[in-house]
Amino acid sequence: MSEKASNGFQTGFANEFATEAMPGVLPEGQNSPQRAAHGLYAEQLSGTAFTAPRHSNRRSWLYRIRPAAMHHPFEAMPAGRFHNRFGEAPANPNQLRWDPLPLPSTPTDFIDGLVTMAGNGGPGEQSGVGIHLYAANRSMEGRYFYNADGELLIVPQLGRLRLATEFGIVEIEPLEVAVIPRGVRFRVELLDESARGYVAENFGALLRLPDLGPIGSNGLANPRDFLTPVAAYEDIEGNFELIAKFQGDLWRAKIDHSPLDVVGWHGNYAPYKYDLRRFNTIGSISYDHPDPSIFLVLHSPSDTPGVSNMDFVIFPPRWLVAQNTFRPPWFHRNIASEFMGLITGAYDAKAEGFVPGGASLHNCMSGHGPDAATYEKASTRDLSQPDLITGTMAFMFETRRVIHPTRQALEAKELQGNYYECWQGIQKHFTGK
Ligand SMILES: [Fe+2]
Repeated sequence: MSEKASNGFQTGFANEFATEAMPGVLPEGQNSPQRAAHGLYAEQLSGTAFTAPRHSNRRSWLYRIRPAAMHHPFEAMPAGRFHNRFGEAPANPNQLRWDPLPLPSTPTDFIDGLVTMAGNGGPGEQSGVGIHLYAANRSMEGRYFYNADGELLIVPQLGRLRLATEFGIVEIEPLEVAVIPRGVRFRVELLDESARGYVAENFGALLRLPDLGPIGSNGLANPRDFLTPVAAYEDIEGNFELIAKFQGDLWRAKIDHSPLDVVGWHGNYAPYKYDLRRFNTIGSISYDHPDPSIFLVLHSPSDTPGVSNMDFVIFPPRWLVAQNTFRPPWFHRNIASEFMGLITGAYDAKAEGFVPGGASLHNCMSGHGPDAATYEKASTRDLSQPDLITGTMAFMFETRRVIHPTRQALEAKELQGNYYECWQGIQKHFTGK
């Protein structure tokens, strides 16, 4: 049994957690007794194949008031802005950048407020990632959601969220992130007037902490800073709706009780949160700076060693001390494709145009890097003093596959038509002498 933190969370990454909202819920020495205690039903939720290797095998046992099977038939919902149609428009080699989505003017909850911007692969392939923005102004009321297609990495940019899940309550604010595993039912409540942020829908292998190699046994995101909720349940009946995302489409079913009725659970498949401010940022103390993989928080491995289905990378506050070095991110082209967002502050490779809540997409082999103003400033800077970057948090969803923007993203009025101009002012310094 893992340690219970006093703030209602259990600490560690994918530990064998055990938690009960009332004593005696969890059976001793077995998972599914003939009758579970307190009249509960025992149910297993598997997040990996039964036969997955032990180090990557994830499942939990839930002890609940009613089994998850108990609901009316699902019916297809009309197609909306939240989907996995990544083939609607040609994949695009242009550098793309968007202003933030406007906050909604009509009542919009988290599900209604999801807008798919880009993605690759799909749930049928069990690989790739869907990239979405959300903007909401009310809590989900009388409805619950689960995603059969992938786990959801939620990155708030504005407003706090209360994620009421089968496994317990997870509250997050900007600069924190949460992961809701595939299949877990939940409801999103707003703790502030409005909420906006980013979501990565990971169709591939479950997000995990990276190996650290020569960094050693500590650093980057430390396992003890990942928080998994303790059990909490609802015992309520009413006319509710259960929404499922299944193979890219939304379905809904009537349900006459809250599906968040798990009174106790144990296992290693559960939601968790992480405070990005806890990240132990590592960089060069001599010259140059490492590849941005040094900023990796979580990744979804692919079947090729060292090549991720998806990386979640952050650019946190940090000291820049390298000598005889261009200190901001350099010009580059990568085989990977990069979707970036900004939670707060300014990103050190861009003087303007990339604002909190906005997004950019630099696809495979598309040249990008510091804009003209940033280059001029950083290339002539006095390096005798260190630079301290404060009050910022940019992040990247980086994938091995090309990221296809959706039609609605390409047609959005938030798409900046002049993004390419930020590099047009770069001076020719070469004189041939
Ligand atoms: Fe990049």
